Amino acid sequence: MALNYYAKELKENAQLLASKGKGILAVDESTKTVGKRLAGIGVENTEENRKAYRGMLFTTKDLGKYISGAILFEETLFQNHPDGEPMVKKLNDLGIIPGIKVDKGLNPLPGGKDVETFCSGLDGLVERAAKYYEQGARFAKWRAVLQITADGCPSNLSIQENAWGLARYARSVQEAGLVPIIEPEILMDGDHTIEKTAEVQEEVIKQVYKACQTNGVLLEGTLLKPSMTVNGADCSEKADPQKVAELTIRTMERCVPASVPGIVFLSGGLSEEAASVYLNNMNNLYRKAMWNVSFSYGRALQHSCLKAWKGSDTEAGQKALIARAQANSEASKGAYIPGSQPSSDEQLFVAGYKY
Ligand code: 13P
Repeated sequence: MALNYYAKELKENAQLLASKGKGILAVDESTKTVGKRLAGIGVENTEENRKAYRGMLFTTKDLGKYISGAILFEETLFQNHPDGEPMVKKLNDLGIIPGIKVDKGLNPLPGGKDVETFCSGLDGLVERAAKYYEQGARFAKWRAVLQITADGCPSNLSIQENAWGLARYARSVQEAGLVPIIEPEILMDGDHTIEKTAEVQEEVIKQVYKACQTNGVLLEGTLLKPSMTVNGADCSEKADPQKVAELTIRTMERCVPASVPGIVFLSGGLSEEAASVYLNNMNNLYRKAMWNVSFSYGRALQHSCLKAWKGSDTEAGQKALIARAQANSEASKGAYIPGSQPSSDEQLFVAGYKY
């Protein structure tokens, strides 16, 4: 069976991705989403500009000291750098493992409530994953999204469907040798308290691992990418960084099996600085489990970098990227001194955000 064939490699690659002091750079924005980012700095969304931007990221000297893997959009995995070399080679040269977003996006969930979705892309996934492996990818990502609302979301139906989809995906890509990053994101939209998020998140993550067990997913060859346990963006009671860290770790300890080598949080609209501080606080808490607690940030690693790059300033862009990569690497060891690296305090949260 293919999973058995790849088992050793899956475990090794998951361990490498979860190396102490390293995290993941999420740069897998769809063509539409990256277009919004580029528009923010007045750059047109052309293939050439996307290539220039991502090529700048992937040639940042010493990035591999802080970053173990980079999640790519399909276009980038098969693309060459403006200098003609494959993007995959640029990452490998830095010691960064290339990964690939394999889901095909969110669709309305029939039978669910208005905001509820399921994640598509399971048909033909084993075959697609095999092509990505051949192209040099060694891990994958699939993002399922749940939202907390006053009228009872996420429904049981949406939790079951999204947990099942994540587990089917995880098993499918493992059959082709890719380490699955399992991402059940709980959006920050809403006015619920942090306690409510913790309650919902516990149920969601438990169901994810239950479905993984039913599907025979090799947990040692996976990573979990959750959102942090935070209050809703419109909640009047703001949880402080220490409380976020404590409740997030409590949630993880209640639901994430010890056989999972690493938990890599998404930033979900937190500011760059908040994403680093929360992670740092988590790594200063006593923990019962051994998983590496690190980052897989998109916006919180790229925001000030994009603004510094402005379409052409490679040096400034790379300097901003390495600053946030180093800050988050320190945070993943509990050694980040807030404000010690340039960052942006800008809230990156956008209601109804589509990745
Ligand atoms: P953010 O860190 O911007 O939430 O993105 C991470 C990601 O990969 C979302 O799927």
